Amino acid sequence: MIKLSHMTKTYGAITALDDLSLEVRNGECLVLIGPSGCGKSTLLKTINRLVEPDAGEITIHQKPIHDYAPEVLRRQIGYCIQGVGLFPHLSVSDNIAVVPRLLKWDEPKIQARIDELLTLTGLPLSYKTKRPHQLSGGEAQRVGVCRALAADPEVLLMDEPFGAVDPMTREQIQLAFRELQRRLKKTVLFVTHDLEEAILLGDRIALMHRGKILELSTPESLGQSTPNETVNQFIGADYALRILRRSTLEDLKLTAVQPQTEDRRLESTSSLKEALAVLLESGNQRVITVIDHQAYRVDVGDIMAHLQAVRYG
Ligand SMILES: Nc1ncnc2c1ncn2[C@@H]1O[C@H](COP(=O)(O)OP(=O)(O)OP(=O)(O)O)[C@@H](O)[C@H]1O
Ligand SMILES: [Mg+2]
Repeated sequence: MIKLSHMTKTYGAITALDDLSLEVRNGECLVLIGPSGCGKSTLLKTINRLVEPDAGEITIHQKPIHDYAPEVLRRQIGYCIQGVGLFPHLSVSDNIAVVPRLLKWDEPKIQARIDELLTLTGLPLSYKTKRPHQLSGGEAQRVGVCRALAADPEVLLMDEPFGAVDPMTREQIQLAFRELQRRLKKTVLFVTHDLEEAILLGDRIALMHRGKILELSTPESLGQSTPNETVNQFIGADYALRILRRSTLEDLKLTAVQPQTEDRRLESTSSLKEALAVLLESGNQRVITVIDHQAYRVDVGDIMAHLQAVRYG
């Protein structure tokens, strides 16, 4: 668990962190979202001591971070720097291998790990010998993600890790990251500007504004506690549609039916957002999904009932 208590950091007249307290639970992905300049990167950097706060305390597993030697602290934490920050004189491989080599992994294990991570983030293995200046912004960012994950750290700090990646690749990496996180249960503090991304990846979302946390809740119940104008503006009127992307047809209480030839079929792993879009577009009353050779029907009412249950239930 990462616990931040009463953190304050000022830069002259600017208050980047304003008496901020936050806990990231073991194994959760907590997404920090908020407007530019609200203090997200500053907060992340206090955790691996790239920024020293004026006041406040941070513990990791109940131990104050000042009780760890800085290099030991940083090796334990995978950090994806905003704006990538690859070492320009090192190849892609050597960039990814930095922490495993500091930890003295044997070379075959490091090479296998590099291949595994490049594949995971959708980069060709032929890129291993490239230098950072030979990569596009989105490719470099993916190498940054590989580097942060390389030594399999328990704690991950990710500062807009997919910001420069094109929308198609971005969705692929988001889904790959979500799968990985479901399996590995790292303790992740993830910064983004993108509400869709926060909803898809976050177990909880912290909405940050002017150095403070305005609201902290699950994606399903964000904006449901005390009414707040800034929170409402931030989440927007279409929030309900956005959270439909978190659930799949498998999450519904399904009714078995006899399929008809005109029925549109969707994979049971399709999101409710996709299912709703197909229903709206086709004008059909229902779509069909098949699980273990049995067909099930899904209609707008099923999606609505699910939404009511997760958001207001
Ligand atoms: N080294 C610094 N010196 C002076 N001011 C700084 C410094 N670092 C950050 N700031 C200021 O502190 C505030 C918070 O900055 P921070 O980088 O944490 O914002 P952010 O939420 O990460 O923004 P963005 O979404 O644009 O990345 C900003 O007003 C910024 O100008
Ligand atoms: Mg930032």
